[in-house]
Amino acid sequence: MRQFNTPLVLKGKTLRNPFILAPMTTYSSNPDLTISNQELAYYKTRALEFGMIISAATAVSKHAQAFENQITAMSDDYLDSLKKLSKTIKKEGALAILQLHHGGRMSVPNLFENQEVVAPSAVKADRAFAITPRALKTEEVYETIDDFVDAAKRALIAGFDGIEIHGANTYLIQQFFSPQTNQRDDEFGGSRTNRLNFPIKILDKIMDAVKQSSNPDFIVGYRLSPEETETPGITLEDTKILVQSLIDHDIDYIHLSQSSYRNSSLRDPEDKTPIIHHLKKDNSKRVPFIGAGHVYTAKEASDAFGLGYDLVALGSIALSDPHAVKNLQKGKDPSTTFSKDSMIPDNLFSRLEKWSRYDNEPFKFSKQKNTF
Ligand SMILES: Cc1cc2nc3c(=O)[nH]c(=O)nc-3n(C[C@H](O)[C@H](O)[C@H](O)COP(=O)(O)O)c2cc1C
Repeated sequence: MRQFNTPLVLKGKTLRNPFILAPMTTYSSNPDLTISNQELAYYKTRALEFGMIISAATAVSKHAQAFENQITAMSDDYLDSLKKLSKTIKKEGALAILQLHHGGRMSVPNLFENQEVVAPSAVKADRAFAITPRALKTEEVYETIDDFVDAAKRALIAGFDGIEIHGANTYLIQQFFSPQTNQRDDEFGGSRTNRLNFPIKILDKIMDAVKQSSNPDFIVGYRLSPEETETPGITLEDTKILVQSLIDHDIDYIHLSQSSYRNSSLRDPEDKTPIIHHLKKDNSKRVPFIGAGHVYTAKEASDAFGLGYDLVALGSIALSDPHAVKNLQKGKDPSTTFSKDSMIPDNLFSRLEKWSRYDNEPFKFSKQKNTF
C-alpha cells in the first residue's frame, strides 16, 4: 500500500513512513530506573520498521513516577540511560521521541520511600488503588512545570529528536485541564483559561528551551484525551480550545489518545461526527494529527488515514507483532498472538496476560512462554 510507505517531514526531520510506535509503559526498567536491556531490545526491533518511536511514559521527577519500573528523566544521573535509548532507536532509522509524564493522582502509592501522591486538588480517583492526593501549592505547580522543562532539556542533551508532553489518559496534565479534578482557586484553576495555564506554560517554557538550544528543529508534540465522560469533565468544546491554544503556541503535532481512532463523541451519542473531523476542521493545514486506538488490520490502518490522520500510532498490535509495519506494508494483517516472537519485556508480557482487555479476540496468548 503506497500510503503505508510514504515518508513524511516533521519539522525538517523525515519519517520514513507514517507509522508511529504508540507510547507504551513497559514496567521493565532496571531497579535503579535506568533503561534495561530487555527494553532496549524491544525498542530496537520496532525501530527497524516504524517511522517514529514514542517512548514509554517517562517520569519527569521523583514524585512524577506512577508505575513500578518506569523509566525516568528525573535528574542528570539518567542522561546515560536516556542516551542509550535514543541511540538504540535512531541507529535503526526511526525518529526518537521521549514522552514526558507525571502521574498525579493516578500514581500507584508506595513506589518509593516518602512518596507523596500529589494532584491539582485533593480529589481521589475512582480506582481501587487510589488514595486522596495532596493538592500542590502554587509554588509547587511552578516547580512541576520546571520539572517538565528540565526533563525536555535532558531529552535534547541525550540526542532525542523530540519530546511528547503527556497530556492524556487522566494523568497530571489532564487533571489540571479537567474541571473534575482541578478545583483550585489560584491562576491554575477556576476558569477554562486558568485550567489551560499548566499545559500551556509547560509548552511555552519547553519551546523557549528548544529555541535557545543548538537543535531548534527539536520536535515538541502533545498527547490528549479528547473527552471525559464525567460531569463536570473535559468536553469536546474544551478540547477544541486546547487544540487551538496548542497550535497558537507552535506545537509540532497533536496526538489523540482514544479507544478507537474512529470514535465520535462519548459525551454526546447523537453526534456521529468522528472526533478527528471536529478537531482538524479549522486546523488541517497547520499541524499534523496522530491517530491511535484499535488499528489492528490493514483495512483499519487505511481507514484511519482516510479519516484524515496524518500519522497513525500502533499500540497493542505492535506489542504482539514486532513486524506489524512490514506486514501492513505488504497488505497483510499483523499477528495478534502474544508469544516469544513478540519480543516484549517479561514484566510487560506477564501483565498483558492478566489484562481483561486482551481476554477477547483478536488477541491470543501462545502457550509457549516468552523466553526473551
Ligand atoms: C501496555 C500498554 C502501556 C501503555 N502505556 C502508555 C504510556 O506510557 N503512555 C501513553 O500515552 N499511552 C500508553 N498506552 C496507551 C497506548 O499508547 C494506546 O493509546 C492504546 O493502547 C490504544 O491503542 P491500541 O488499541 O492500538 O492498543 C499504553 C497501552 C498499553 C497497551
